Amino acid sequence: MPIISFANPKGGAGKTTTALLLAMELAERGAGVTVIDADPERWISQWAGLPGKPDNITIQSDVTEESIVECIDEAAQDSQFVIVDLEGTASLMVANAIGMSDLVVIPLQGSSMDAKGGAKTIRLIRNQERLARRKIPHGVALTRTSAAVTSRAMKNVQAQLARAGIEVFQTPIVERAAFRDLFDYGGTLATLDPALVSNIDKAQANARSFAGEVLSWLKSSRMAEVG
Ligand SMILES: Nc1ncnc2c1ncn2[C@@H]1O[C@H](COP(=O)(O)OP(=O)(O)OP(=O)(O)O)[C@@H](O)[C@H]1O
Ligand SMILES: [Mg+2]
Repeated sequence: MPIISFANPKGGAGKTTTALLLAMELAERGAGVTVIDADPERWISQWAGLPGKPDNITIQSDVTEESIVECIDEAAQDSQFVIVDLEGTASLMVANAIGMSDLVVIPLQGSSMDAKGGAKTIRLIRNQERLARRKIPHGVALTRTSAAVTSRAMKNVQAQLARAGIEVFQTPIVERAAFRDLFDYGGTLATLDPALVSNIDKAQANARSFAGEVLSWLKSSRMAEVG
C-alpha cells in the first residue's frame, strides 16, 4: 500500500533505474508491486516486454496527467507497494504524484553533485506538504557513484546535504553495468548471466541494501504518524 515516487526534474538523474531496482528487490522479497510508468520514454514498460519479468510486478503504463491520481489510488488498493517512475520535468503530474506519496526518493547523480534539480524537487515537496497539511517523507539517493568512493567521502557528502536540511539515503546506487544491462536483457539481477555481466553480486547487494533502507524509512515514518 505505501506509495513511493521517484522525482527529479533533472533528466538522467537515475529515477527509472533506481525505481526498477527497488521494484525488483521488493518483489524478490515476495511483495506484490505495481510500477506506474509515468516516464515518457517508458523504459520500465519496455523492460517488462522482455522475458523474465517476475509475476508479482505489474506495470501500469497507461497514465496521463488527468489519470495519475486515480491510477495511483487504484494501484494502492491492489498492491503492497506502488512505485511511481516520474518524468524528468516539474509538471502537474509530478506534483500530484508527490502529493499522494508516502515517500519521495530524489535520485541525484553523486558524481556531478548537480543539486539544482534536487532543490527544485524539495521545493515542490514543501508546497505539496502545505497543500496536504502533512509531512511527506523524502530523501536524496545518490546515484551512479563510483564503486571506489570511500564510505568516508560518502559521509562527507551526506553531512553537507544534512547541513542544508536534506536527508540522504546512506546507500548510494553505484554505477554498475548490471543496472544498465537489465534494460537490455530483461529479467532481474538474479537472472542476469554472470558470463555476460560483471559484478552482479555487488549490484544485488547494493539493491538489497537500498531497499532495506527504504523499508525502514517507511516503517519509521508510519511509527511517527502513530506516535
Ligand atoms: N547506477 C547506475 N549504473 C549504471 N548506469 C546507470 C545507473 N543509473 C543510471 N544509469 C544510466 O544513466 C542513464 C539515465 O538513467 P535513468 O534513465 O535511470 O535516469 P532518469 O532520471 O530516469 O532519466 P529521465 O529524466 O530521462 O527519465 C541511463 O542510460 C541509465 O542506464
Ligand atoms: Mg526516467
